[in-house]
Amino acid sequence: MLVNLNQVLNGIAQKKCAIPGFNVFGYEDATAVVRAAEELNAPVILMTNKVALDYMPISYLGKLLCAIAEDAKVPICVHLDHATNYEVVAQAIMAGFTSVMYDGSQLPLEENIKNTSEVVKLANACGVSVEAEIGAVGYNDPNMKVKAVYTEPEEAKIFAEKTGVDALAVAVGTLHRMETQEAVIQFDRLEAIQNQVSIPLVIHGSTGVTDEDLRKLITYRVAKVNIGTALRMAFGKSLREEMNNNPKEFDRIKLFKTPMVKVQEEAKKKMEILGL
Ligand code: G3H
Ligand code: ZN
Repeated sequence: MLVNLNQVLNGIAQKKCAIPGFNVFGYEDATAVVRAAEELNAPVILMTNKVALDYMPISYLGKLLCAIAEDAKVPICVHLDHATNYEVVAQAIMAGFTSVMYDGSQLPLEENIKNTSEVVKLANACGVSVEAEIGAVGYNDPNMKVKAVYTEPEEAKIFAEKTGVDALAVAVGTLHRMETQEAVIQFDRLEAIQNQVSIPLVIHGSTGVTDEDLRKLITYRVAKVNIGTALRMAFGKSLREEMNNNPKEFDRIKLFKTPMVKVQEEAKKKMEILGL
């Protein structure tokens, strides 16, 4: 069942659990994530990021992910992750995405507020939810020219009130693309933010968060937890093993079988840790 982000996050923070937004890149990992959600009878968010868009037209991704979501037995939100321009947001909405993230985190506050508000106006008119970012979650990758800035609680309050977004991504110590779980979360900062802001909070770069801290995050008003690298590693590692173990096999459908199971297992594990 295809739903928007508001429908997925509604009441989640009070239930002491969080819904993962998983970055997916095609049929194999999207299906694996949905199977994990169905096993747990829980909602989940399928997210498309820039890497996926550089590989496949957004209209193809929208049709594919929405079709998978419509057939699912659980609520599935199809979300555009980290869009930095209005045109891509509009294309995503036309392609069927039910939720978009506008990422103006590298812009001055006033410009971020202005651009985000324009996205909210467009998206709301189409029944599409909006997530935006205040502060900036950096990257554990020197090639990514993103300046990391911790979220200031007072700015988060101003931003949420002025833009009217549905969910707010905050920078409290995580970094994108960590391959080991060693992020140091500033729970004091998170608490100060949630004292100022009433909408659901989103944590990005959550592959790097320890299992213990993921369990702790759900005791705060964190409703969405973004995970990408963990699933990419599960798929890639398993595919490498399959190819090494079956050097004569050339059929991708056979080679993808075990990696899909590994992605499903990893997604299910993260969902269970997040209280689902
Ligand atoms: O927006 C995507 C997420 O923040 C994923 O981060 O790949 O570090 O888990 P990650
Ligand atoms: Zn992110």
